[in-house]
Amino acid sequence: MRTTLRDIARLYAEGRRFTMVTAYDYTSARIAERAGLPLLLVGDSLGMVVQGQDSTLPVTVDDIVYHARAVVRGCRTPLVVGDLPFLTYATEADAVSAARRVMAEGGCGSVKLEGGREIAPIVRRLVHSGVPVMGHLGFTPQSQHQIGVRVQGRDAAAARDLVLDALALQEAGAWGIVLELVPAPLAREVTARLSIPTIGIGAGPHCSGEVQVWHDVLGLFDDHVPRHTRRYAALADAATDALTALAADVEGGTFPAAPNSATMDETVLADALR
Ligand code: KIV
Ligand code: NA
Repeated sequence: MRTTLRDIARLYAEGRRFTMVTAYDYTSARIAERAGLPLLLVGDSLGMVVQGQDSTLPVTVDDIVYHARAVVRGCRTPLVVGDLPFLTYATEADAVSAARRVMAEGGCGSVKLEGGREIAPIVRRLVHSGVPVMGHLGFTPQSQHQIGVRVQGRDAAAARDLVLDALALQEAGAWGIVLELVPAPLAREVTARLSIPTIGIGAGPHCSGEVQVWHDVLGLFDDHVPRHTRRYAALADAATDALTALAADVEGGTFPAAPNSATMDETVLADALR
C-alpha cells in the first residue's frame, strides 16, 4: 500500500519527523523505497540535475509525467509527489489540467506548487477537485528572476509575509508545505503555528520533515556542495573510479573474461565454417 495523506498526518501527529528525496527514474525510486522513505518528489529540479539546464523554468508537464511514470513503476509504498512546472498553474483552468496530467498520466499521488496567498484560490480549487496539494514557500526557484537565489524571509516584513502565506496555504487545504532557504528560527515559528507538516530544505532543524535533492545527498556532483545539504555518499567518485577500472580492464584485455562469456562446441563451429 502506498503512503497516504492519512499516514503522513499520523506521523506528524505523533511528532515523528519524516524524509523525502527527489527521484527522477525507476532505479532511484527502487533504492529510495528500499531505504524506507515514505515520500518521493519528482521535482522540477530535474531540469538542472537530469537535463543540464540552468534553472527549473524550461521543465514541462510532459517532462514531469515522463519521469513520474518511471518513478511510480519503481516503487510501491512511497507517496510520489510531482511538481507543477513554471507557468502551468497561473490560472485555475491551467492548474486543473496540469494536475490532471501529473496525477492521471504520471501516476503521482499529489502535486506541489510554489507560492503563497496569491495562489491560495488555485490550491483551494485543486483540493476541492480531489488533488492533494503540497505548498512551497521561501526560496521558490520558479520565481528566481524576481527574488534571487538566496535565503528568504530575513527581514520583519518578509518573515511576516511568509507566516501569512503558510497560513493561507493551510487554510486553502494544502496537506504540507516545503520551506526552502528560510532562516531556522522563522521555519520553527511557521512550523509551530501550522497544523500541517513543514518539510524543510535549507530551513533548519525544526521542520516536521526534510526534503533533499537526490544528487546532493548522494554526492553525484563533484563541484559545489550547498550549505543546506550533506553528502551521505560519494557516488560520482565511486562511478568515476568504476568506469576508469572498466576502461583499464577492457584495454588490458582482462574484461570480458571467460565467466562473462558463452561457450560453444568448437567442433560445431568448425562444421559451420567448413
Ligand atoms: O524540485 C525540487 O527538487 C524541489 C525541492 C528542492 C523541494 O522542489
Ligand atoms: Na521544485
